[in-house]
Amino acid sequence: MTRAGAPPGAAALSEKAPAKVNLALHVLGRRADGYHSLSSLVAFAGAADLLAFAPDPELSLTVAGPTARAAGPAEDNLILRAARNLAACRPGVKLGSFSLTKRLPVAAGIGGGSSDAAAALRLLARANDIPPDHPALVEAARLTGADVPVCLRPQMRMMEGAGEVVGPPLGLPPLFAVLVNPRVPVETPSIFRELGLERGGEFTIQGEPARPVIPPGGSGTRADLVAALASLRNDLERPAIAVAPVIAEVLAALRGTADCALARMSGSGATCFGLYPDCHAAARAAHALRAKQPDWWISATLLR
Ligand code: C5P
Repeated sequence: MTRAGAPPGAAALSEKAPAKVNLALHVLGRRADGYHSLSSLVAFAGAADLLAFAPDPELSLTVAGPTARAAGPAEDNLILRAARNLAACRPGVKLGSFSLTKRLPVAAGIGGGSSDAAAALRLLARANDIPPDHPALVEAARLTGADVPVCLRPQMRMMEGAGEVVGPPLGLPPLFAVLVNPRVPVETPSIFRELGLERGGEFTIQGEPARPVIPPGGSGTRADLVAALASLRNDLERPAIAVAPVIAEVLAALRGTADCALARMSGSGATCFGLYPDCHAAARAAHALRAKQPDWWISATLLR
């Protein structure tokens, strides 16, 4: 949360929009409205987009940065949808001009668009003196997309329901990770479709929540958390690999790096993460992966 380099006279604010990583994601069933009931442990990365905002009578957005082109036309961006949803939930809210530096891969299972939208809501809250937990902000997030509420306050937490039920920060230790995206976009609805659950059906894959249970006697260390994560899963991995087989290659490449304790897909893919015992092991793994796959997006990062 910083003051951006503002033109004279305009008070510009900026926020990072960190990548969201589903450390585990269990699909519990499919609701009558077609959305899936989920239980997911969500963390946030150092890898992020950057969003700046300056008050202005007109709502506008410009997008630049390495992945700007993949993000599509600015008028379709979730940032504008989030701003309009907040204006509808809280009449009189002052809008302005947003400037997005897009660095994260798009349609990648790391909630880039959702995190950008959540950052826009945080910026509007700051500019309008709206408290961060104000119901209008939470409602605008929910209306904008299933992953936006959890991105509103980016800390490791549980996400349930279709995404709108967000738990408190868990206070778990940060994890050293490498994120890998093979630059193959994956459309979330196609992966849920591939899962093939009946609308309104009671079918559950395995009904337990994706909540890490630190073993009795465990001291809540990073190693305990990684061990607890190993017994959880991402239920979207199988259907995502069926749609985009390169995801299996990404997982194999991560598992082949030295000291990789766990490799798993995030969200509906194609980004996968590997977990490592320390930042040096993560940096070494990222280096080795870049040497083998120079075209993949690879980021060594802390998840918290
Ligand atoms: O809410 P959002 O537009 O981000 O969701 C994208 C798509 O992902 C939905 O249209 C739906 O197909 C699928 N989805 C789902 N269950 C969820 C979240 C998303 O089926 N809990």
